[in-house]
Amino acid sequence: MNILVTGSAGQLGLEMRRVAAEQMPQHHWRFTDVAELDITDAAAVRRAADGVDAIVNCAAYTNVDQAEVDTELARRINSDAVRNLALAAAETGALLIHVSTDYVFGGTANTPYTEDSPTCPLGVYGATKLAGEQAIAAAGCRALILRTAWLWSVHGNNFVKTMQRLMSERDSLRVVIDQVGSPTFAGDLADVIGRVLALDPAEQALGIYHYTNEGVCSWYDFAMAIRELIGATRCDLQPCRSSEYPSRVTRPAYSVLDKSRIRRELGIRIPHWRSSLQRILTQNTLP
Ligand SMILES: NC(=O)c1ccc[n+]([C@@H]2O[C@H](COP(=O)([O-])OP(=O)(O)OC[C@H]3O[C@@H](n4cnc5c(N)ncnc54)[C@H](OP(=O)(O)O)[C@@H]3O)[C@@H](O)[C@H]2O)c1
Repeated sequence: MNILVTGSAGQLGLEMRRVAAEQMPQHHWRFTDVAELDITDAAAVRRAADGVDAIVNCAAYTNVDQAEVDTELARRINSDAVRNLALAAAETGALLIHVSTDYVFGGTANTPYTEDSPTCPLGVYGATKLAGEQAIAAAGCRALILRTAWLWSVHGNNFVKTMQRLMSERDSLRVVIDQVGSPTFAGDLADVIGRVLALDPAEQALGIYHYTNEGVCSWYDFAMAIRELIGATRCDLQPCRSSEYPSRVTRPAYSVLDKSRIRRELGIRIPHWRSSLQRILTQNTLP
């Protein structure tokens, strides 16, 4: 199989490189990031899709706060460029695996969002990601959209790395307790993408699927688990409310995704966020 990966210098993209090397070396992989393939360039995307069996789109504009200012750029990367990929996939017959977000929801629910729950993005990031999903549906290509949440890894900028740094610099920290979700290790998500790619095309999962790690917590709980695992007991953690943090965008208070569909249809056992956190933090010193 020829597999094109976009945005492969990001958190998920780097984990896809690991999956390719460790689990699927028999395939021909082309890893690109913006320097090699800018997905906003429709002609370049169309050329890159030639002869490709599957496209894994790990590229995105992911800075939720800055998206409120860089609205046009966020729209070009999260919506228009996704249309480029979907149209190229429709033309060539390639499978498109795309990643979306819990931010397509409004966060006012108190039971997990299913794939069919009504969307209601609260900010530009969520709205542009939702438009990307809609562009895929309109293009009519073979596509799998994986909505995920609270992604972290040993690469890039994420909550785990930020907490680890702040806990080594400060005696006390305040962390929000009124937003709950499911932390998701990018490596676990990449493993699932590898599993989807390995399926027979006749059994291919298509449409929207929710995937996060198991378990639900607040950012405060997540920070407490990180503190415990890295032994940063000197740093005092205090819970606080989101309203105490000035932000350009309102974040969903509740962004738990229902994963029944992916569990049932792919027959997977999803790791709990705490066990993935423990596995990675006890193996690695985050860069
Ligand atoms: N991070 C989260 O908490 C989270 C939560 C839910 C869903 N998601 C979704 O999960 C997916 C993976 O997220 P991630 O955290 O791995 O993202 P990430 O670390 O920000 O990586 C995205 C990559 O895409 C690249 N990129 C940006 N514009 C591009 C373009 N025009 N053409 C090609 N590449 C481009 C970025 O390069 P630069 O760094 O140079 O811009 C970066 O290397 C995204 O679809 C995201 O929306 C993320």
